[in-house]
Amino acid sequence: MRKNLLVCLVIILNFLSCESNKPPIKAAVVSARIEASKIGIGILEKGGNAFDAMIATDLALAVCYPNAGNIGGGGFLVYRKSDGSVGSLDYREKAPLASYKDMYLDSDGNVIEGKSTIGGMAIGVPGTVAGLYEVHNKLGTLPWEELVQPAIDLATNGYIVTINQANSFSSKRNDFVNINGEETLFAKEFKPGDTVINIQLANTLKEIQKNGKSGFYNGIVAENLVSEVQKAGGIITMQDLDNYKPIWRNPIEFSYKNLKITSMGPPSSGGICLAQMMKMIEPYDISQYSHNSLESIQLMTEAERRTYADRSEYLGDSDFYPVPVSTLIDSTYLLKRMKDFNWEKATLSTNISAGPNLWNESDETTHYSIVDQYGNAVAVTTTLNASYGSKVYVENGGYFLNNEMDDFVSKPGVPNMFGLTGSIANSIEPEKRMLSSMTPTIIEKDNNLFMILGTPGGSTIITSVFQTILNAYEFNMDIQESVNASRFHHQWLPDLIVLEPDKFDSELINKLISKGYFIDEKASRIIGRVDAILVNKDGVITTGADPRGDDAAAVLR
Ligand code: GLY
Repeated sequence: MRKNLLVCLVIILNFLSCESNKPPIKAAVVSARIEASKIGIGILEKGGNAFDAMIATDLALAVCYPNAGNIGGGGFLVYRKSDGSVGSLDYREKAPLASYKDMYLDSDGNVIEGKSTIGGMAIGVPGTVAGLYEVHNKLGTLPWEELVQPAIDLATNGYIVTINQANSFSSKRNDFVNINGEETLFAKEFKPGDTVINIQLANTLKEIQKNGKSGFYNGIVAENLVSEVQKAGGIITMQDLDNYKPIWRNPIEFSYKNLKITSMGPPSSGGICLAQMMKMIEPYDISQYSHNSLESIQLMTEAERRTYADRSEYLGDSDFYPVPVSTLIDSTYLLKRMKDFNWEKATLSTNISAGPNLWNESDETTHYSIVDQYGNAVAVTTTLNASYGSKVYVENGGYFLNNEMDDFVSKPGVPNMFGLTGSIANSIEPEKRMLSSMTPTIIEKDNNLFMILGTPGGSTIITSVFQTILNAYEFNMDIQESVNASRFHHQWLPDLIVLEPDKFDSELINKLISKGYFIDEKASRIIGRVDAILVNKDGVITTGADPRGDDAAAVLR
């Protein structure tokens, strides 16, 4: 026994001394797949910057992580350059020109189940390729061709199926076959260790490599996309594709103690909601309570409840609806919102209602974080919405199309796939962007780069980012511990605290119940999959890749 302990101690000391003998990390990429992280680092090794690495990482995810990595979806970039300037790019999908407010309702005014989530009508006009090309033109340094090539190689040579991925393919195989037929690539029963080669996708990427944005939005790739969408009953046209433009937007910037936090603004709710939650708890000095204690869960839950109530009422695409951004993140307003918070009793959300299949799409969306050797930081969250989006697969193109239209409000008060409700602010209009929860976030501490983070998880994205920041900043965890720590989530309606199963003890749960909280430990397998980077005050870079998935960091030393 003693000998075993000694051996373990020697191994640990060895490991630690090897780590400390290594040169310091100069740059890092953390993403959902090691292949994509390594491809990003490969670009940095060639002298590229974080924006170049973003493009290569993103396209690699489109190949080897097809449930969420995409060219058939959209996303958001938040960046901070080495000179401290910040910005954001919205390349969110948008509603087709032929869309209209009640397009998911039957003649009695009821929501037609599945119409906004599966098949052709669920698909929004994709934004990813336009977004990446825009980043290249404005902020990149290496030639476009070099950034696309690694993804072409990955699609041509193939990637290895992980256990998680085999389970993910298998859980959706019936949908793939029902929608795309027996011959579709992902009708095959891939097992862990199998190699997926996708020549159609390699060919699509070659068009994009040769022709940039128009390689996707015009010509043969676009024609294939439109034909597949229309075959699946959808309404996207060549004109929709030709019209698509990404938009540079002012990010949401706010302070929390000595942090300056930059996150995504509308059409994402992420930045505003994160600001609301953080500002609501700021006066309480949460560090005096321990992590996931009764008090910290109560305080954060009550901030989350009030935030998601505002989200439902006020948030949508600010190009179409006057979102009251400055009021929503105003400290005085947020202090008032917490006036009725009571440590003794939960504040009840009114009109409790549960969405169907709540949180069963836990591996949709993906996030990656990058810091380069020059000090530029990039946080990107990108999505098809559900896993494999609408499940409509462009056969000649080798990729899935999103079902982002479900992020609109089909009918006020009726919950979407994530149980989220909304108002006219997020109703469907041609060319409008659907409201998102994606929260790519970059944080400065005392004016220096401190954290880069984000996560998938639908409505749980914002609360996962919220918790991870507090874990690192208030509860003094290192970045990996901050990412690993158990999570909970509340979103106003349904009036439930959702807990990751078997992670919270029954005594704590009983205390919450005695204060009037409703608990659900079963709705979710996991909450979020955070990929984060932390830079300490001495400039030391550490990474946190979420063990809930196959997420992995690659670094440059
Ligand atoms: N489709 C998930 C989101 O954008 O929030």
